[in-house]
Amino acid sequence: MAKLYLAPMEGVLDYTLREILTSLVGIDQCVTEFIRVSDRLLPRSVFYRLAPELHHGGCTRSGVPVFLQLLGSDPNLLAENAARAAALGAPGVDLNFGCPAKTVNKSRGGAVLLKEPDLLHDIVYAVRQAVPANIPVTAKMRLGYMDKSLAIENAKAIESAGACTLTVHARTKLEGYKPPAHWEWIAKIKEVVSLQVIANGEVWNREDYERCQQRSGCQDVMLGRGMLSNPFLAESLVTGHEASLDERWQRLLPMLEAYSTQVIEDLSERHVHGRIKQWLNMLRQHFPQADHLFTAVRSERDPAVILKKIKSLQDA
Ligand SMILES: Cc1cc2nc3c(=O)[nH]c(=O)nc-3n(C[C@H](O)[C@H](O)[C@H](O)COP(=O)(O)O)c2cc1C
Repeated sequence: MAKLYLAPMEGVLDYTLREILTSLVGIDQCVTEFIRVSDRLLPRSVFYRLAPELHHGGCTRSGVPVFLQLLGSDPNLLAENAARAAALGAPGVDLNFGCPAKTVNKSRGGAVLLKEPDLLHDIVYAVRQAVPANIPVTAKMRLGYMDKSLAIENAKAIESAGACTLTVHARTKLEGYKPPAHWEWIAKIKEVVSLQVIANGEVWNREDYERCQQRSGCQDVMLGRGMLSNPFLAESLVTGHEASLDERWQRLLPMLEAYSTQVIEDLSERHVHGRIKQWLNMLRQHFPQADHLFTAVRSERDPAVILKKIKSLQDA
């Protein structure tokens, strides 16, 4: 059975959105935003803050497992933190070898590690050794940093060090988020490794999903921005049924209300409006109704007014 994974997205796909998106059918597994490991064993509070699911068995309320993602370059430190994640109940530990952010790459984290297959190996190996055997260790990589010349070597290094799953975002760091995603490169990787490979990048609808599967040779696909612009994407891929835009918008409004209410509770007031608009901005790509709503609240900074507007659309 093909599986669907919800992508990690730092600053966007937090606990609240994971809860909302997994309340629909379709997503089999999630990954947290990355937890940055730079110089120490992080306090437990950091793990709980980024993965509150640890309070209920490492799963969302719908029972979808949430792997904890670590980002860093020191094998021993990553191992120590991975062991703590496992001890706190993470159902799996994922390692980030794809973050393109300058600040992260400068301190030798994320995609820049793709220049050093030996280091990738050492990181995965150290983490695998530190985490109990029943807890999966997985990795997520891009195709390379400036070019794809080390893509195969990196994937082999990750496999030989003991990772059981590799998600490949089919672009280099240099290619950023610019379409297309080079799904055919995932097929090249898949040919030479035998661990589970998950294809990722530019899947926005069923057509993309099927083409991605065909070109990558992967059954399993990770969905990122596609799920944020159309939260019903995974559901429709699994059920084979897609309701009308209007019907989906009506189902979405209570989700948007729940999201806004939770964000109001969690964030300081000055950050709330930006966070709600961030999701609305993504929803605009799929829903013309979200575009109207976004325009209506674009310059509004008071979260209560935005929430009231969302509620009024449900009563309309
Ligand atoms: C705002 C943003 C934040 C992201 N944060 C992470 C992250 O924390 N860890 C990670 O491995 N990938 C991260 N990614 C990459 C996504 O997981 C995914 O690989 C990428 O968006 C391509 O998939 P998509 O085309 O389905 O969105 C992020 C992407 C975006 C746009």
